[in-house]
Amino acid sequence: MPEIIKINVTRPYEVTIGSGLLDSCGEAISSVHAPCSAAIVSDDKVAGLYLERAMDSVKKAGFRPFPIVFPHGESSKNLSVMSGVLEEMAEGGLTRADIAIALGGGVTGDMAGFAASVYQRGIPFVQIPTTLLAAVDSSVGGKTAVDLAAGKNLAGVFAQPLSVICDTNVFETLDPEVFADGLAESIKYGVLTDADLFSRFSKLDRTELPSLVARCVRIKGCFVERDEYDLGDRRFLNLGHTMGHSIEKLSGYTFPHGHAVGIGMVMMARAGERLGLTESGTAAEIAEALSGNGLPVSAPYSPEELYRAALGDKKRMGGNISLVIPERIGSCFIKSVPVSELYEFARLGKEQ
Ligand SMILES: NC(=O)c1ccc[n+]([C@@H]2O[C@H](COP(=O)([O-])OP(=O)(O)OC[C@H]3O[C@@H](n4cnc5c(N)ncnc54)[C@H](O)[C@@H]3O)[C@@H](O)[C@H]2O)c1
Ligand SMILES: [Zn+2]
Repeated sequence: MPEIIKINVTRPYEVTIGSGLLDSCGEAISSVHAPCSAAIVSDDKVAGLYLERAMDSVKKAGFRPFPIVFPHGESSKNLSVMSGVLEEMAEGGLTRADIAIALGGGVTGDMAGFAASVYQRGIPFVQIPTTLLAAVDSSVGGKTAVDLAAGKNLAGVFAQPLSVICDTNVFETLDPEVFADGLAESIKYGVLTDADLFSRFSKLDRTELPSLVARCVRIKGCFVERDEYDLGDRRFLNLGHTMGHSIEKLSGYTFPHGHAVGIGMVMMARAGERLGLTESGTAAEIAEALSGNGLPVSAPYSPEELYRAALGDKKRMGGNISLVIPERIGSCFIKSVPVSELYEFARLGKEQ
């Protein structure tokens, strides 16, 4: 039986998670929207694997689907590819009575969500995440964006989906590195609030994926409900992200996001232990869970480099920065520190 999680934001919606849902996605969509035209937005890789099945199911449910496919990868998440997607929506005759469907990973979800929310001032959209990261993170919560030359995710809007349909079977075709990236963000939810979930990811049994993804979505949903527009408690979701962003940046974005976030979590826990803020052994536990899943636990950058890279990111925020620090596995707190103290966290977070 699929698991259904309700996200109680201004306009509530459901996330349905289970194995084998792709072939009945049309039926699921028909329970939230009357048959209409539907632009199925996807990248070329995902389209090659799953577009036909999604189109068939949506057609069977009475919709009139047409595909909009762009080249895969982060380098497509920009305004120029976006403009092509919008033009194709118009050429396909999409109206305000119609919908868009995002079939793909986080890049597709961010692109399709943004396109849908500005096309004719906003049409509804459904998320069908096909990466673990999109399932546990980007498809839920309503953040959509594209990258600008000045940085990632700098142009976007808050727009919650009409519903999210997650078929965990499609993860079988993911590159191991892409799957591991999603695992790092999943392990993050365990560190944040759920020690039992953490231990299940430490010894992952893939047959448990639907229920594990559901637990991650429930946790993300709680933070989103408490802070729909990212003004407060959603900051907890940034655990590992300050150092993580520095690592991504220093690597020229060749270091995958989740991999970098994992290292960031280990560093915050280690620094916390050395400052007496974190239960001893926490950093080692996180490191073990990550390396057990093929993820790295350290990066070849000095504390100075990490600090300088973070500084570039935080300049506009003025004097203080909120750091998420694990107290132990399953519990974290936010500490606001002067930006200059980041250096100390980078130094204490490194293995010595
Ligand atoms: N909106 C949010 O709240 C939010 C949160 C986290 C991340 N993001 C964004 O998400 C993006 C990263 O997401 P991602 O890691 O899913 O990247 P992605 O969408 O680029 O997918 C990674 C790769 O996997 C391929 N792929 C996707 N599904 C597949 C499948 N089932 N089988 C085989 N290959 C498949 C894609 O073609 C791509 O090459 C970033 O742009 C990031 O900014 C957004
Ligand atoms: Zn992240």
